[in-house]
Order: sequence, then C-alpha cells, then structure tokens
Amino acid sequence: MTPQLQRRVQRYGWDHAMPHYENGWKQQLAPSQERLLALANLDAFERVLDVACGTGLITFPAAEQVGPGGKVFATDISDKMVDFVKQEARRRKLGQVVAKRAEAEQLNMPAHCFDAVLCSLGLMYVPDPMQALSQMLQVVCPGGRVVASVWGARAHCGWSGIFPVVDARVNTDVCPLFFQLGTQDLLAQAFTQTGFTQVISERISTLLHYPNAEAACFAAFVAGPVAMAYARFDEQTRAEAKADYLATIEQYRQGTGYAIPGEFVVVRGIKP
Ligand SMILES: C[S@@+](CC[C@H](N)C(=O)[O-])C[C@H]1O[C@@H](n2cnc3c(N)ncnc32)[C@H](O)[C@@H]1O
Repeated sequence: MTPQLQRRVQRYGWDHAMPHYENGWKQQLAPSQERLLALANLDAFERVLDVACGTGLITFPAAEQVGPGGKVFATDISDKMVDFVKQEARRRKLGQVVAKRAEAEQLNMPAHCFDAVLCSLGLMYVPDPMQALSQMLQVVCPGGRVVASVWGARAHCGWSGIFPVVDARVNTDVCPLFFQLGTQDLLAQAFTQTGFTQVISERISTLLHYPNAEAACFAAFVAGPVAMAYARFDEQTRAEAKADYLATIEQYRQGTGYAIPGEFVVVRGIKP
C-alpha cells in the first residue's frame, strides 16, 4: 500500500469509526491515556499540541489541566474527529481548545510554539512515524516534552487477529507495521534517533473487557481503523469475518464476556 493510500484508508476509516469510537474503546484505552497525561505533567497556562486527537479523550483532560489561560491545539487526519472536538469544546465551554485537520507528518505549524506535544495511540497509523516525530520535535520549545503512546507487541495484544481477518478480505494491509513501534524498545529508539533526550519508556499490561461477543466485534470492526473496510462488506462477509475474529479471541472468553490481553508503550522525550 502506498503512503497516500494508507493515509486515505485512515482518514475515511476514522470518519466511519468516529460516532462509535468512545463506545468501543473509551474504557479500554483509559490506562494508557492516564499514564500519558501523567508523564506529560501539564501545568496551568501551558500551550499543548495533541496530535491524532480522535474524539478528544486526552484533549479535554489536557484542557482542564492547562486551564482557561492555556491552549490545547487538537489535530487529526479525520474531518469527523476534528469537527467532533470543535463541537464538544463549544459544548463544554472550553475556549482554550482549538482543533484543525492536520496530518501528523505535516503539521504546518511554526517551530517552538508548544510547551508539550501529546500523541496518544496515533503513531501506529502514520506511514512515516519518524517524520511525525521530527515534526513534533520541531514544534515543541527547547526543554519541552513530547509524550507518545502506541499499542505494545503483537504477541501481547490478544485482539490482533482482527487485522489478518480483515486483510484477507480486502487483499491488502489495512494497518501495515501496526505493532512495529510497540516491539521491544523501538518507540524509545525512534525518539532518541529523532533527537530527543532524557527518553523514558514504560510498558503497561491491561485487559480489554467486553460484556459479550457483540461488543467485542463492535469495537474491533465498527469503532476502529478497519471501519471503512468493514462498512463495504456485504452481510455474508460481515458474518464470516465476525466468526473468524471470535475464533481468534475464543481463548479469552469468560462465560459470555471477554477479557482480552492488551499492552501499551508510553514514551516521553525532552527537546534539548
Ligand atoms: C486510536 S485513535 C486515538 C485517538 C486519541 N488520541 C485517543 O487517545 O483516544 C487514532 C487516531 O489517529 C488518527 N490518525 C490516523 N492517521 C493519522 C495521521 N497520519 N495523521 C494524523 N492523525 C491520524 C485517526 O484519525 C484517529 O483519530
């Protein structure tokens, strides 16, 4: 898949997923998001960039932390995600939140304009994550911090069977290299290679709880990165894909529910 096609798959896939994302993933992603925000250690009046903001699950807590005197600039490749964050910022009366569509590899922002940059569970979808990290290094001020999280190693993410199940039906890789940065110390190494110092890395093990098979399939197919491919499946293909996915997570079934292992990696680096 070319980088351009990969960006299109993400852009329109996440447009599809937007209305369902929080139902499918909010609770499951919380341990990673809380740790990322703790490592960012935001303060009142700070200027923060949130790259790949999604529905704003870290944008809004960050906005509360920097307060009305600070600023949180939320960016995402998906128009629907950005529109949702704008609407939600108005609803919550958080004037310090600004949102615009931007690709992580091309932020188009001046250098040194943020005290902190956050990227929660976004880098796995970016065709050139090193370029995205370079952009983050450029826009953060000297001494500022960049904190990013990714899913961990494939072997520790029990839901990873979703990709081969979908890829086999679209004859392509929907998310090529999804687990690469979460393997060993690769995300921390990427930070160091980009030019960050004082790099620290943490690995978090978790369990993704779903009350039943329908909820597990909803999260995997409807509320995430394969949503566009799934939207184009006919009824029979959907039923077959769901059955195949459920077979891959059968080992994690507990009665009618599921407790699927997951792993996150969170890394923080400082701009020299
Ligand atoms: C798993 S969601 C994470 C959202 C949010 N940061 C969170 O922690 O809930 C991934 C997000 O990455 C965005 N994304 C994917 N590829 C991107 C790219 N190349 N540039 C910017 N955002 C991208 C998607 O649109 C989606 O909103």
